[in-house]
Amino acid sequence: MTTPPLLAPLTLRPGVVAPNRVWLAPLTNQQSHADGTLSDDELAFLARRADGGFGLVETCAAHVAQDGKAWPGELGVHEDAMLPGLRLLAARLHEGGALASVQLFHGGLRAVSAVSGVPTWAPSAYAEPGGAAARAATEDDLARVIEQFAAAARRCEEAGFDAVELHGAHGYLLSQFLSTVYNRREDRWGGPLENRARLIRAVTRAVRSAAPSLVLAVRLSPEDFGNAKGLDLDESVEVARWLAEDGMEVLHLSLWRSSERTRKRPELHPTTLFREALGSRVKIVVAGQIWTREEGEAQLALGADAIALGRAAIANPEWPRIVHGRSALELRRPPLTEAELRAAALSDTFVRYMRNWKGFVASEELGTR
Ligand SMILES: Cc1cc2nc3c(=O)[nH]c(=O)nc-3n(C[C@H](O)[C@H](O)[C@H](O)COP(=O)(O)O)c2cc1C
Repeated sequence: MTTPPLLAPLTLRPGVVAPNRVWLAPLTNQQSHADGTLSDDELAFLARRADGGFGLVETCAAHVAQDGKAWPGELGVHEDAMLPGLRLLAARLHEGGALASVQLFHGGLRAVSAVSGVPTWAPSAYAEPGGAAARAATEDDLARVIEQFAAAARRCEEAGFDAVELHGAHGYLLSQFLSTVYNRREDRWGGPLENRARLIRAVTRAVRSAAPSLVLAVRLSPEDFGNAKGLDLDESVEVARWLAEDGMEVLHLSLWRSSERTRKRPELHPTTLFREALGSRVKIVVAGQIWTREEGEAQLALGADAIALGRAAIANPEWPRIVHGRSALELRRPPLTEAELRAAALSDTFVRYMRNWKGFVASEELGTR
C-alpha cells in the first residue's frame, strides 16, 4: 500500500526526520506561568498533539526577552530558569513521536508593557490611537536583541529541541523591521530593503551559529494581512532568498487562506512562487485554513513539503490520523463546545482565549464566560 502524501516522512537534515508532513502551527495559548515557565496545561495541550500523530509540534510564540512579551501566560525562552520546563517539553514531545520546535519571538511594538513590566520599543517611535505605543530602537537595543535570539536558541538546543523558528511574520518585531509602515528609520536599519532586512538576517545568522545543531526555520507573512502591514510580495521573495543564504532551512509561509493566490499577482499561488524562488534547498511549510486531507494535499501539490495546522489542530488533536481513517475520532469543525475543547486537552484559560476567534467556541455558552 502506498503511503498517503501527508504521511510520508520528511528529512529536514540527515538524521532529523519528521515522521510525516502534518505539523502543529505555533499557537499562543496563554497557559504558561506568569514568569514564562511551562505549565502542566501547556504541556498537556502540546503532548496531546504529539501523541495524536503530528509530525512536528511547535510551541507558541515564546519571548526571547522580557521586553518582547506580548501576552499574559506566554512561554519564555529568555532565561536559563526556563530550561527545566523546556527540557521536559522536548522530551515529552519526542516520547509522542514528534519532532519538537520552539517559535522564537519578540513583539516589538506589539509587546505589552502592562504584561512585561518593562517599556516597549519598535523600529520607529509609534503610537496608534488608543493602541500600541513604543519608542524607537537604539543601536544597543538591536545588538542586544540579536544576542537574545541567539541565547534563546542555545537554550532550545540545550533543552533537546530539534528546531527553532524565528517569528518573522504577523507584524511583530522582525516583520516590523521589514515593513515600510512600521519602519521609517533613515539609518542602516531602514529605507531600502537591504536595510529593512538587516535585523532578520542578522538574527538568522546569529541563531545559525549559536545553535548549529538545530534546524532553522523562519516564518514570514508574504503580503499584508491583519497587523502585518507595509510588506510587498516581491520583497518577501527576495528576503526569503537572502535568508536561505544566511542559513534558513525551512520557510514557514503564514498565508491565513492557503487556497488563495497572491493579491499582487492573482495568477500566482504563493506556495509555487516561493518554491520556484528557493528551489529545493529550502523546505517549505504552509499554514492557513487547512481543514481537510484534500486541502493539505493540495498544498503539497503546489510545492509545499509540509503543512501546519492551527485551528484544525486545536479542534482535532489526532487530525493526521483522523483524515486518514486511522482514529476512532471524527473530524470536528467549529463551533466546538467548551466540553469538546476540554476533551481536546485545552484548559479553561485556553478555551477563554479561543473565544477571541470568531465562531470557534459554541456561542450558546457565551453566558458562562
Ligand atoms: C489561537 C491562535 C494562536 C496563534 N498564535 C500564533 C503564534 O503564537 N505564532 C504564530 O506565528 N502564529 C500564531 N497563530 C497563527 C497560526 O499559527 C496559523 O498560522 C493561523 O491560525 C492560520 O492557520 P489555521 O487556519 O490552520 O488556524 C495563532 C492562531 C491562533 C488561532
